[in-house]
Amino acid sequence: MDNIVRAVYERDADAQRARRLQWFREARFGMFIHYSLFSQVADGEWCMSVENYTKEEYEKYARTFAPKPDCADEWCRTAKEAGAKYCVLTTRHHEGFSLWNSKVNPYNSYNYCGRDIVREFVDACRKYDLRVGLYSSLMDWHHPDGWKCAFDPDARRRFTDYIEAINTELLTNYGKIDILWYDMPYPMQSSEGWNSINRNNRLRQLQPDMLINNRSKLQEDFLTPEESIKPADGAYWEACMTFNGISWGYLDPDQAMPYSYTPQKIITMLNKCTANGGNLLLNIGPSADGSVPSEAIEPLKTVGNWLRENGEAVFGERPIIGGRYTGCGVNLASASADQKTIYLWNRIWPKNGEMRLGGYMEAPRRVTLLATGEELSFTLDGHRLFIHGLPECPTDKYAGISVIKMEFDSKPAFENMSYYPHLRYGDNIAGDLVQ
Ligand code: GLC
Repeated sequence: MDNIVRAVYERDADAQRARRLQWFREARFGMFIHYSLFSQVADGEWCMSVENYTKEEYEKYARTFAPKPDCADEWCRTAKEAGAKYCVLTTRHHEGFSLWNSKVNPYNSYNYCGRDIVREFVDACRKYDLRVGLYSSLMDWHHPDGWKCAFDPDARRRFTDYIEAINTELLTNYGKIDILWYDMPYPMQSSEGWNSINRNNRLRQLQPDMLINNRSKLQEDFLTPEESIKPADGAYWEACMTFNGISWGYLDPDQAMPYSYTPQKIITMLNKCTANGGNLLLNIGPSADGSVPSEAIEPLKTVGNWLRENGEAVFGERPIIGGRYTGCGVNLASASADQKTIYLWNRIWPKNGEMRLGGYMEAPRRVTLLATGEELSFTLDGHRLFIHGLPECPTDKYAGISVIKMEFDSKPAFENMSYYPHLRYGDNIAGDLVQ
């Protein structure tokens, strides 16, 4: 019976996947928001476990939880200004505190400070036209069955029912939800242990267009590489990244700042995702009162300004090109869906007014600077393309990453570099001596 349920579930989910994923593939850039009681501790979101707090001792943070008014508006405004298209909020992290007016979990923000943060977040997402993602931990350090479920069948039944009930609330009471972002399937080790097929099946009926990530021990709609941007084979993926390589939850900004990403690094991450068929989910960990952490404000603004001028190279359906079309030692590339337009993201700008691109077998029709539309002249010599008359400095005033747009009549023939500059890759080197 279970096998039939699984087969039917997977067949139906597969059939709908491409349609469901479309907006997500085009959106490319989302913001993760890790906010809860741990934001007051400022030792990372795992502090309750890592520092061995007792439940009673940790509960004091529920009593002092005091989000400032409009914090959710601030998160979503920041995301919008940064150019993100969706947000994902930790509605209940491993510490087990629900950020909404939950009927099944009394340990929640409404009971302690009268605030339904999920409601505020969903409203703010709608205000700024952002898609809505709700993160939901499976592991729970506060629920009495959260660890007993590992070895006690009754506790397991109660706990998996609880997991379904809280997610049912989230997916019933807040209108359309775009992503259910599970995390940490622990202590059970299998989808059967978590009853994931039956639960996800029922939850999908509440939100038929919703995406589900791969962290309930089922692959579902997309994979979630963490702290690394790794293209995955055969499935769509979203890389989630902290802002500082240290913690998802709030840290003291002065100490976190030297580890934090610069706009240039964030734009490079966006390129890696865009060129390799994935999304970037970039995290912020708001402070105790919900303020956007200060070290993230300027970099995110800069990325947003850059995206407003160069978003054409990022958003929309993009082919997976990997390192193809870069042609010059220091730039990155992305391409339009039909690959007739190639975007060169120049992290390092050529000093002498000329850019040399290897591997292009044909000339473009037109070359322009994406941000200004200014035309650039070019010549093709064999498999080398020269772009001439470049301004002396990068024209991009935000991050120094100027994008050159090259338009071709058809997808350009491009041959990867060879290890010998004058040869094309695959050219036959006579003789068999190499061993
Ligand atoms: C992990 C961590 C968690 C964080 C998440 C984000 O699994 O347990 O703290 O929320 O990754 O991807």
